[in-house]
Formats: sequence, C-alpha cells, structure tokens
Amino acid sequence: MPRRLDILRRGHPTLHGRAQEVADYGAPQLTELIEDMLHTLADSQGVGLAAPQVGAPVRLLIIASRPNPRYPGAPAMSPLVMLNPVVLEASAELESDWEGCLSVPDLRAQVPRHRAIRVAYRTAAGHAEEIHLEGFVARIFQHEFDHLEGLVFLDRLTDPDQAIQEEAYRRLLAET
Ligand code: NI
Repeated sequence: MPRRLDILRRGHPTLHGRAQEVADYGAPQLTELIEDMLHTLADSQGVGLAAPQVGAPVRLLIIASRPNPRYPGAPAMSPLVMLNPVVLEASAELESDWEGCLSVPDLRAQVPRHRAIRVAYRTAAGHAEEIHLEGFVARIFQHEFDHLEGLVFLDRLTDPDQAIQEEAYRRLLAET
C-alpha cells in the first residue's frame, strides 16, 4: 500500500542542497518512492512534487496538474513522472504568475518563469523521453526542477516582500 509521505518544510537541509542523479532505474526502492509520491500528491492539493520535499535527495519530480481549491485554474492531466530531467530549451519570454509550495505553507508570490520549455528526462523504467511544456505546466516543471537544485520559489523573488500570506492571496483571487 502506498503511504502518504511527510512533506519537509523550508529550512530542512535536504530542501536546500542539490539532489543527486538517479542511477537505479526500476529498483524496488525507487518504484516505492514514486508510488508513495503519487499517493501523497493525490492526497494533497499540490500540482507537483519533487523527491527532496519528501526527504529523498534524488533527481525525481512529478507534475500532476488538476484543478483544486489551491489552484482552481490548473489544467487536468495524468501525472508525469520525470527522472534526471534536463532543460534543453527555454523560451526567452517570461511570464509571472502566482505560486505556492507544500514546503512553504501559507505563502504565495508571483514568480517569473519561462513561458515554454523543452525537457529531456527518463521515465520510471529508465526510457529516454523529451517533452515540450507550456504555460502553467511549464511553470510547475520549473518550480519542481528548482527543488532539485535546492531552491524554493521564494529564492526567485527579487524582494522578500513580494510574498503574501495565503489568506491575503485568497482575498485577492476572490476580487478578480
Ligand atoms: Ni514546491
């Protein structure tokens, strides 16, 4: 049975270091970690999760966009599991939009990200794949990829005051 994993909070050293390459594609331990992460995502209001957030310092991330109370406008898709992702191309065009993070509860900020991005990665079984991502899904990828580099979205802000409380964010959302 997959388990719901605890999410580390900002300040934990695993969230602030560079994650290591995955070498043991298909290993039972890795398969279990992926299943537990998928279960944890389905059981939370996150739209993505990176392995360091659950205490595993490896280059594994999952994009699982779907509309939920935290992200009402998120597009629906099947979860995308990516191992050892590498950014091949990124659009010069940047877009700013609101982000939050399960490891940074209660804060939101507008973060500039590339509008489109091309990524090479390995599947859980170790197959090499490439994918083009745009808009909100490209944003989720860049947010999760940052976790593999030891960064959280607050590290992308030029001024820490750009982050606002979740409650203020919800008020803002209700007004627009
Ligand atoms: Ni995050």
